[in-house]
Amino acid sequence: MPSRPTIPIIDERSRLPGASPVDPGHDLADRRGRVLRDLRVSVTDRCNFRCIYCMPKGVFGKDYPFLKRQELLSFDEITRLARIFSEHGVRKIRITGGEPLLRRGVEHLVAALARLGGLELTLTTNGVLLPRMAERLRDAGLDRITVSLDALDDATFRRMNDVDFPVADVLAGIAAAERAGFRQVKVNMVVKRGVNDHAVVDLARHFRGSGHIVRFIEYMDVGSSNGWRMDEVLPSREVIDRISAEFPLEPAESNYAGEVAERWRYADGDGEIGVISSVTQAFCASCTRLRLSTEGKLYTCLFAQHGHDLRGLLRGGADDGRLRAAIAAVWQQREDRYSEIRTAATAAARKIEMSYIGG
Ligand code: GTP
Ligand code: 5AD
Ligand code: SF4
Ligand code: SF4
Repeated sequence: MPSRPTIPIIDERSRLPGASPVDPGHDLADRRGRVLRDLRVSVTDRCNFRCIYCMPKGVFGKDYPFLKRQELLSFDEITRLARIFSEHGVRKIRITGGEPLLRRGVEHLVAALARLGGLELTLTTNGVLLPRMAERLRDAGLDRITVSLDALDDATFRRMNDVDFPVADVLAGIAAAERAGFRQVKVNMVVKRGVNDHAVVDLARHFRGSGHIVRFIEYMDVGSSNGWRMDEVLPSREVIDRISAEFPLEPAESNYAGEVAERWRYADGDGEIGVISSVTQAFCASCTRLRLSTEGKLYTCLFAQHGHDLRGLLRGGADDGRLRAAIAAVWQQREDRYSEIRTAATAAARKIEMSYIGG
């Protein structure tokens, strides 16, 4: 396999679509010198899927204590926080869940965030509600969309989502996104060895030449409910080797500093894929991401065990200055680098769930 060029971690904000020059004095650095750039906002902890690597049915059954409506941040609260985050250097907001399209009126949140200006807006979905939502989201100002899809054959896909959704529903969602004008849809596949790893080359083949970008994600030990085991991780290196055997790949440069996916392009020019290798090649050193949970807690790492409550401040009447200072303090104290220090013991520790914090 060819080796990938290493790129320096420099600030390339100006290359982000929709980015506008900001006063560098507003940037926040954490204890490891990482600058805050991306905010992921979870708008619901519910989902219509029960992916085995994310919300296994045994845990997320009918008795699971999902959040109640009044516990969720309102769209006004999220928008107010987003403005303050953008003053602290955030340039991209990803709306996540659970399944974000289950949150009623989510397009109004997109519209409100778009009105703030200077933010790249993107959303991660399982795709099945896109036929009715894609156009509304596009009209509201959503820039990009990412759809999760773990196999192309129905039997495997149903086994992964565990609620019997057929692949056709997701493909219809991707087609609806195209019709609505979304280009280069990113298609995220979590690869679990022995369950869906046979589908890697199928997925690459299907989307080659479509303009969309499949990203193969190493199965991670997020949360404490998926029973993660290292031997179920298919290292990205193997993904590249398998695809390359059929469609030769060559390494491509990152689009921006701190990009999670490593880019690889087809040597014949028929598009690109990405691999996300949080387990075998940690990327904590360039992690610019902060996460806001559905109920208004800030998490400085996907694997964090504790969040910092902002809802109490918001609802207790804190002014913008107070919120700004609270957010700055959280980021400036940040030291997280979980993927660099993962061990069997940390993998088994109690951590927040992906469906609660958002991918
Ligand atoms: P763009 O480059 O803007 O398209 O997005 P992205 O690649 O940052 O985003 P996306 O949310 O699609 O990330 C894909 C997957 O990578 C997530 O679902 C996670 O599985 C994983 N991931 C994203 N961010 C992190 C992170 O900070 N840490 C770890 N360990 N995994 C992450
Ligand atoms: N490992 C890797 N990625 C995960 N996701 C959820 N759970 C996991 C996991 N255990 C990510 C997937 C999915 C998004 C919503 O969250 O990328 O597409
Ligand atoms: Fe739902 Fe996405 Fe989790 Fe699957 S990965 S259960 S679609 S939130
Ligand atoms: Fe960032 Fe934590 Fe992921 Fe490392 S493990 S890249 S610090 S979110």
